[in-house]
Amino acid sequence: MTNDQLQQFTRDTEPSEISFLAVCQEPEVRNQVAAPLIARGFPGESCADTAQALTLLEQKPFQVALCDVNVPGIGAFGLLEQVQSRFPDTAFVMAVDFEETFDVAAAVRAGVADYVVKPPHPETLVARVRRAVEVRYRERALEKHRSRLEEIVRQRAEQLGRAREHIERTCDETLRALGYALDLRDNETAGHSQRVTRYCLELAKAMHCSSDELKTIVRGAYLHDIGKIGVPDAILRKPAELTEIERGIMEAHVRIGYEMIRRISFLGAPAEIVLAHQERFDGAGYPRGLAGDEIPLGARIFAVADTLDAMTRNRPYRRAVPFSVARAEIIRESGRQFDPKVVEAFLSLPQELWESIRDEVKSQQEGPDPYWWIHPSAGL
Ligand SMILES: [Fe+2]
Ligand SMILES: [Fe+2]
Repeated sequence: MTNDQLQQFTRDTEPSEISFLAVCQEPEVRNQVAAPLIARGFPGESCADTAQALTLLEQKPFQVALCDVNVPGIGAFGLLEQVQSRFPDTAFVMAVDFEETFDVAAAVRAGVADYVVKPPHPETLVARVRRAVEVRYRERALEKHRSRLEEIVRQRAEQLGRAREHIERTCDETLRALGYALDLRDNETAGHSQRVTRYCLELAKAMHCSSDELKTIVRGAYLHDIGKIGVPDAILRKPAELTEIERGIMEAHVRIGYEMIRRISFLGAPAEIVLAHQERFDGAGYPRGLAGDEIPLGARIFAVADTLDAMTRNRPYRRAVPFSVARAEIIRESGRQFDPKVVEAFLSLPQELWESIRDEVKSQQEGPDPYWWIHPSAGL
């Protein structure tokens, strides 16, 4: 409500529109409070204690409650509390014995709109009642306006959340398409990408990564080998060891993958993981020879997950080793190939977790939707 509106309200409000409730034990005081108001056309009721006051308040609305500070029952401040929580449109005015002993500041803090000293001067009483009602009216209008605004903000945030969810789902559908394209080229990658993604997710959670970091790591891990799409079949599927030149071409898959996805806005951060997924903590990796914290955290996590998977899966030229052997190798390479902090997170998790993920991915691959885990409902 603007000041103009308040002034309008002040001028326009007839006494008949302001009903009062006088709550005083002594009939004489009740009369001192109620009579001047009734004489000027204010409708109202009177009662002797707080219980009767609450009953009357429940029956009909009052614009103002005038309460003797010594009222029996739950007391004047107890009644004030009830009025504030259950009848917030009602202004609360207190009738006090002596101005000197009444703690005005404490009463205002408690929510009293105004006070009058007994016996109140009729004109003062009317002026204070009017002002208390008007101020309460303005406060309530502001409160209602604020809660309307809050509701609008809440609705907008909800709409935004839904739109964001929709975009994320679309993004992840795109990832599936990219992953599927790679699977067509390289059969071995399918299960590998899913397993390392799941391993990365567990490691990242153990390292207390935020949910945004988890999404970046999951997307980067899933797409880490996407650049293999650009590697010729003769090299990609060669059953024998690669020559030096062939290895150079194979190693280019990190840059090809990076260039493929880095311009897609939601894949900017995952692209950095793709580019760095063959780096080593000691700086002896490729393509840039980054070391330590220069390597994105997602790529440092990925390095452990990748070795874990590389060692524990069957390949055409090598049988899988047990998880315990892979574990020992990861410990041995801590500080060399791997970030010791990631190794620490790895060791904090039980071996059965990795085994169960491997089995889960295998059964999901045989199921109707091998990419179920990248969907937002998978809890990312
Ligand atoms: Fe890989
Ligand atoms: Fe790779």
